Amino acid sequence: MPYAHITGWGMYVPEKVLTNDDLAQMVDTNDEWIRDRTGIRERRIAAKDETTASLAMEAASNALRIAKLPPTALDLIIVATSSPEYTFPSTASIVQDGIGARHAGAFDLSAACTGFIFALNMASQAIRSGQIQTALVIGSETLSRLVDWTDRNTCILFGDGAGAFVLQADDEPGGVLSAVMRSDGSGGDLLTIPGGGSKNPASAQTVLDGMHFIHMNGNEVFRFATRVMATASKEAIDKAGLEISDIALIVPHQANLRIIQAAARGLKLPMDRFMVNVDKYGNTSTASIPLAVCEAVEQGLLQRGDNTVMVGFGAGLTWGSLAVRWTGPFEEAKPIRLRPYRRAARLRSWLRRLWRFIEGLIWGRGKDSSA
Ligand code: ACO
Repeated sequence: MPYAHITGWGMYVPEKVLTNDDLAQMVDTNDEWIRDRTGIRERRIAAKDETTASLAMEAASNALRIAKLPPTALDLIIVATSSPEYTFPSTASIVQDGIGARHAGAFDLSAACTGFIFALNMASQAIRSGQIQTALVIGSETLSRLVDWTDRNTCILFGDGAGAFVLQADDEPGGVLSAVMRSDGSGGDLLTIPGGGSKNPASAQTVLDGMHFIHMNGNEVFRFATRVMATASKEAIDKAGLEISDIALIVPHQANLRIIQAAARGLKLPMDRFMVNVDKYGNTSTASIPLAVCEAVEQGLLQRGDNTVMVGFGAGLTWGSLAVRWTGPFEEAKPIRLRPYRRAARLRSWLRRLWRFIEGLIWGRGKDSSA
């Protein structure tokens, strides 16, 4: 049975930085409170022309460059996101077209901040089963568009960004070793965007009532998170047949420094075994774990052959973890230039639209062209 190795990783964050002091100009808060209660110092905010898909494509390109894998070699793209471009089409389909992954199936996965863990496990299982050889898993968010900038309980927490992993099959043991996926829908109301779905379709009233914004019971989510982070990590380690002492680094979802500290206490590990970058980016939901992994690799905290645990929680409620043996790019891979693929992708997309238009003229709009 093949193993699913992580052979590429990439991140992208928007340029604009929003500091705690900036926020103090917008709502009744201050830098000291935010740092004490959350550990966050600043977060990134997407520019007007940036979207969840455009962030995702930048991160994806960086990951493909490291894996030295052309987008045409991808079999599957999963985008985990809490801020998709549309209800449909999926953000993953937009990414597939944009990067020129012409052989890949693409879909979004919705499990809030745990989405990246779930998506990584799904892609890994598809590789382990022998169905596919390569996958691209992305966590991408523009949560700044879903935040009520007058609500100090939520607007201080979230930020924008994207991270991506390339997964490839290989017979050598390693890669994703075990996974834990859990949900408790009874807590769905604790963290929700109540408007704009089929239950409360968008209307002037839902907008007036602010139902299109993130609503959160922060204290309840905090208690839930501190309960599950350590146990989920331990479960993934046990399932992989490892001991806690075998783990070089734990990469937790970056929501609140105090939640990470609680996980460290639960696992009886010092904080230097946990990757932390919540201070720079805030909570970027599905992007937070890959962003933290990318920076851990850059800082030399995660190296080929190291065992790591990625663990997250989020709305749903959902939580999950993965034990991973870190691989890196396959040695035989050759460097690639991605720009020609992007250009070809744009041309191909344009030609397909043109062809659909011509087909419409030939067959008549709305008629079945196979008739
Ligand atoms: N600035 C200043 N004061 C504030 C702010 C703020 N931004 N926000 C709240 N306060 C006040 C409150 O009004 C309250 O005042 P009071 O005592 O006079 O009523 C006081 O500070 C304490 O408020 P708490 O809500 O008890 O503060 P707490 O220490 O619990 O921190 C926080 C709040 C940061 C939201 C915390 O509960 C938390 O991090 N929860 C988890 C949230 C989370 O991780 N969500 C994402 C999940 S992942 C996903 O799926 C998207």
